Amino acid sequence: MWRAAPLAGRFARAAFASAAAALVVSQAPTAVVAAEWSGRLEGHGGPVKSIVLSRDETRALSASFDYSVILWQRQDQGAGVVHRLIGHDAPVNDVRFLPADRAVSVGDDGAILLWGLGTGQVLDRVDTGEEKLIQVRAAPDGNFVVAASWDHTARVFALAGDRLVEAPRLEGHRGPVNAVAITPDGAGVYTAAYDGGIRLFDRATGGLLREVYRHGWGVNVLALTGDGRRLVFGAADGTLAVLDPLSGEIVKQLASHTRPVLALALSADGRRLAGGGGDGAIRVYATDDWHLLEAYDNPHGPVWGLALNRDGRRALHVGLDDHVSVWQVNPRVAFDDSGQSAPRRFQVGETGDPGARQFARKCSVCHTLTPADGNRAGPTLHGLFGRRAGSLPGYPYSKALREAGFIWTEETVSDLFARGPDLVTPGSKMPLQRLTDQEERRALVAYLKRATAPKGMPAPGQPPAGQAEDERR
Ligand code: HEC
Repeated sequence: MWRAAPLAGRFARAAFASAAAALVVSQAPTAVVAAEWSGRLEGHGGPVKSIVLSRDETRALSASFDYSVILWQRQDQGAGVVHRLIGHDAPVNDVRFLPADRAVSVGDDGAILLWGLGTGQVLDRVDTGEEKLIQVRAAPDGNFVVAASWDHTARVFALAGDRLVEAPRLEGHRGPVNAVAITPDGAGVYTAAYDGGIRLFDRATGGLLREVYRHGWGVNVLALTGDGRRLVFGAADGTLAVLDPLSGEIVKQLASHTRPVLALALSADGRRLAGGGGDGAIRVYATDDWHLLEAYDNPHGPVWGLALNRDGRRALHVGLDDHVSVWQVNPRVAFDDSGQSAPRRFQVGETGDPGARQFARKCSVCHTLTPADGNRAGPTLHGLFGRRAGSLPGYPYSKALREAGFIWTEETVSDLFARGPDLVTPGSKMPLQRLTDQEERRALVAYLKRATAPKGMPAPGQPPAGQAEDERR
């Protein structure tokens, strides 16, 4: 069902687009490619954390909370899904293109994956076994990548053929490392961390060269200009500032955000910088004198990821929505709110059913209740009761769940959250969560029982609530 889902309902267009994209790639790459990115890129089953454009800007990669990465191809109308890259065991935080039609991604699972984009398959992976990897950047020549880890280090991996080879770690921060930036010559790596420090390391030896700057708050994001002479950073206190990394002086304070700065992007021509924040604000600056060109407020929540096209006229931005949004910066077009469906994420709604509320808050970001909508992080729960654990065809279950060998009943579902997935199905990809309150558990299970019942057999007197909710989107 997982793989069949794109052929049905709202994914029909993406599936067609995907087939078309495959054709386009093999026959005439430029023939039907639209001049610009536009519209929305729909296909993820959860919030999107990162977005990046290929060098020629005909393709994009997005990393999502739904445990997947999508490779997109720009088309006459919108964009098509070329491949879904399935391999992470947790939300994917960041992704970057690499030369030779490859990509690299990192996730909450602490894994770094190397992908072949021709096939959409994993070429190599390293499981650090540590904390989450939050960001990844590729060297200009593509010979190595650096990942920011919440284990307080940055991980450097050389690319040897299609293998990731771990090089000396960049160590010494006193908190999670949030961001990295590689110098144009590839010799140095800047790191930024929760401890408020920005440091410069020697990439080859892993040695600390110097602390470049110390900020009073955690630093979330970095962007180094193409000439390497300016380092822009965004921090948890909303500061967005331009540094001279040689002198460690602030060259310019850009307008601050009212919430943490979460995303930064430079255009390929180097003339535009965009910053995005937890407050939903996106601002675009001219990098020659850092004056503000445009400012917008995303009405749909925080901006987690940003990409600018070559000349900075289009911004692709992502956040809590399931889709990638494209915004035309110049000529200026205001955010178009018409036809926006209510964002799925806050589908809690006004419901008197405590079980429905539990589901909306704690499960709906990863699970649907309908049969043909299965590509969130977890499998659809439609028809759950009576189903053997880990048995839905096509969904990429962990080995732990595939081999769990029990049937989902009111008792086993309740037990899953009484004791927690880590104890009931050790090794599962399910996030660790427990519902210790027995009443809450009972309400959730009762709701699931109704809402996952196959069509035509809702429980007496009850509409299949989850379904109705889903169809409204
Ligand atoms: C962050 C994402 C996420 C959240 C939130 C989440 N799940 Fe899951 N769930 C998963 C994943 C991923 C799997 C597949 C696990 C595996 O393969 O090991 C899964 C599997 C399951 C299964 C087993 C399904 C099967 O076919 O065997 C059940 C039941 C389930 N989840 C119920 C829930 C309920 C109920 C909630 C809310 C209380 C919830 N999940 C919240 C990601 C999530």
